[in-house]
Amino acid sequence: MIDSQFKVWLKTDTRIGVGVADSLNAYVDAKGCDRVAVILDSGPKTNSHVQGLVKSLAAAVDQLQVVETSEIEPTYAYLDEFRGHFDPDLDLLVGIGGGSTLDLTKAVSVLVTNPKPAIAYRGFDLIKTPGIPVVAIPTTAGTGSEVTPNAVFTDSQEKRKLGINTELYVPVLALLDPNFVASCPRSVAASSGMDALVHSVESFASKGATPASRVFSREAFRLVLRNLPVVLERPDDLEAWMAMQFGAYLAGAGLMNGGGGLTGALSYPLGVHFKVPHGVAGGIFLKLVSRHNVDRGAYVYGGLADLLGEEVPPDEAGRALAVCDALDEITVFAGMPRLSELGVSEKDLDALAEETFQLSGAIEQNPVEITTADVRGIMESAY
Ligand SMILES: [Fe+2]
Repeated sequence: MIDSQFKVWLKTDTRIGVGVADSLNAYVDAKGCDRVAVILDSGPKTNSHVQGLVKSLAAAVDQLQVVETSEIEPTYAYLDEFRGHFDPDLDLLVGIGGGSTLDLTKAVSVLVTNPKPAIAYRGFDLIKTPGIPVVAIPTTAGTGSEVTPNAVFTDSQEKRKLGINTELYVPVLALLDPNFVASCPRSVAASSGMDALVHSVESFASKGATPASRVFSREAFRLVLRNLPVVLERPDDLEAWMAMQFGAYLAGAGLMNGGGGLTGALSYPLGVHFKVPHGVAGGIFLKLVSRHNVDRGAYVYGGLADLLGEEVPPDEAGRALAVCDALDEITVFAGMPRLSELGVSEKDLDALAEETFQLSGAIEQNPVEITTADVRGIMESAY
């Protein structure tokens, strides 16, 4: 029964399928864009489809600037240095890359018209002046950055990861072309795919979930759970990649419409202090947080059980546990490590748990109440 108000929020014109990236030139032409800049992730720059797109864009516009980045999970210092390459008179900014490159592109698009140091805009809705329109062409399937109003950056001085969040840089156009993701390395496919799975499961179980967000989350869960193992086994399977891209997109839509939970929060201190990639950290904790919640009565996870493609128990608890079992399985398949393999020592766990607990926005959305001791316990299980 739908018994309260809710909103549905999606701002991006999104196109999905083999060859959709070719529509960029028609878009540029229709919008009359003469001066365009590309922010290009140096990882996939050797992909022939990426090269072909940049070449044809150069032929289609008066002036094309291409700036490369190899920064993974950038800092505010890097952002301030990097923004200097760009001029506010640009008609369009195109980000081609993984989540970090897309986040960087989104932030740059508004920093060119908002002159204070980037850190001054850290937080939510502090950007007041619109920037350059953004087109997002992801080369990984997972972060959902192509549709969300979030971009994450690290403050290396305060040792904290909190981004610039604003609706003003949400991409006007996202082109999800499987040819652009099929060449991504296996480790990146695994970590970004697990990130999408985290978004789908956490947004489904979140206290902030709505009837609309759950539609996104459920289909995202189904697509990612089925297709992540396929792309890891057969990286040239474009159909499976396309399903992953659609799944990651829907997971992003689920997250921004329904909220997250403890797994997302756990990834931030690990990223800041131990450089653990966001998707890997999420991949380590998703199964542990889900089981922790189910063991404390959050049977909401059972609402995903019919998507497992197998016989599941009829009772609520059994269905929720079947989802946890599936999460255990895919975590192993994706090769997620243990914390002890990532340079974290046992004596770090107290401080990490304390820092995670400070991220109250995400923790409050967890379906059961969480204490610092719970966070410490979950970290210990991951060790
Ligand atoms: Fe994430």
